[in-house]
Amino acid sequence: MKKLNPLLSKATWLESGDIRPYVFVRPENQIAQPGTRHKLDWFTQEPIYKNPLNLNEMPFADAVLQIEWKSFGKQDLAIPKWVFYDCAAMPGFIAGFAGRTSTLPKQLVKDLGIPETEEWCPLSLFIIIPTMHKGEWVAYDLCSVNSFLPKEQQYHGLGFLSKAFALWYANVEQCSGMTQWGSPSLKLHSHYGHLEMIGSYAPLHTHAKTMTYRCEVNTACWEKFFTKDEDLAFLEKYGPSGRTIDPKSEQSMIEMQNLIQQQMGPYYLSASEIAKQDLLQPLTVYHLKKER
Ligand SMILES: CC(C)(COP(=O)(O)OP(=O)(O)OC[C@H]1O[C@@H](n2cnc3c(N)ncnc32)[C@H](O)[C@@H]1OP(=O)(O)O)[C@@H](O)C(=O)NCCC(=O)NCCS
Repeated sequence: MKKLNPLLSKATWLESGDIRPYVFVRPENQIAQPGTRHKLDWFTQEPIYKNPLNLNEMPFADAVLQIEWKSFGKQDLAIPKWVFYDCAAMPGFIAGFAGRTSTLPKQLVKDLGIPETEEWCPLSLFIIIPTMHKGEWVAYDLCSVNSFLPKEQQYHGLGFLSKAFALWYANVEQCSGMTQWGSPSLKLHSHYGHLEMIGSYAPLHTHAKTMTYRCEVNTACWEKFFTKDEDLAFLEKYGPSGRTIDPKSEQSMIEMQNLIQQQMGPYYLSASEIAKQDLLQPLTVYHLKKER
């Protein structure tokens, strides 16, 4: 008997036809051959294309920003409009999922301020920007309406699949990013490929307790976000370094940052462990088993 794709049993909305991926990118930044680098059969629906520089798309763009502000406002991380324009719409790639406005909860449509005459309303947002280092992109924003919807109205996997869709569609090889220690988003970010911690403390950021990571995108890890299966390939390659990071201890972050700067790494975090633990529990720091 054919094994049921765990993705489709946990994120049924993906198949409904009333929710589709969107790509919000200026024409010059369109991806030449989308979805050709990574082998994956999850995203079968044609994306909705929107041009962020086109005045006709302003209701959609404003709703995208509403999601951003409602998701990040409380964390003091909401981005000003000029940052969205200068650092996302112009250089980068914005994507997510959008729902057919007529099928969405009325309160959500009202909260996002999108006119009911707009066929599609954004439900999530992910931004990546290519860097000067060939093949490497920086992820700087991920949010979904789940962060402010009542539990019973949430779309399971919306945040995770928004980033997954963008990495797949844009053929991203290597993805870096920043997240705050103790953030639920670490449960998502750790599942796109083995997560190397390239910084554990960032006083240059608004929040010094920020972790900077990098991963080689590997779709073999993605399904484990839903199945919660152990990543045996990770355990084969990496072992505990004898060190931990405590999301409640700034000192532990500074100590790890010093080790990273002294080239004692590379250091990694385990997605399976992050998935099982409470957000504020100390995390095991792993290193390569070989060459030691
Ligand atoms: C973080 C965020 C992007 C996650 O997206 P989402 O759509 O809510 O999450 P998904 O449905 O894709 O994934 C659900 C999983 O995430 C984890 N998760 C999400 N929110 C969580 C929370 N508040 N506490 C603990 N785990 C959480 C769980 O593992 C959950 O899976 P489970 O219920 O099977 O255990 C979203 O909550 C958000 O927009 N937050 C505010 C903005 C933000 O902090 N963004 C991250 C910046 S790096």
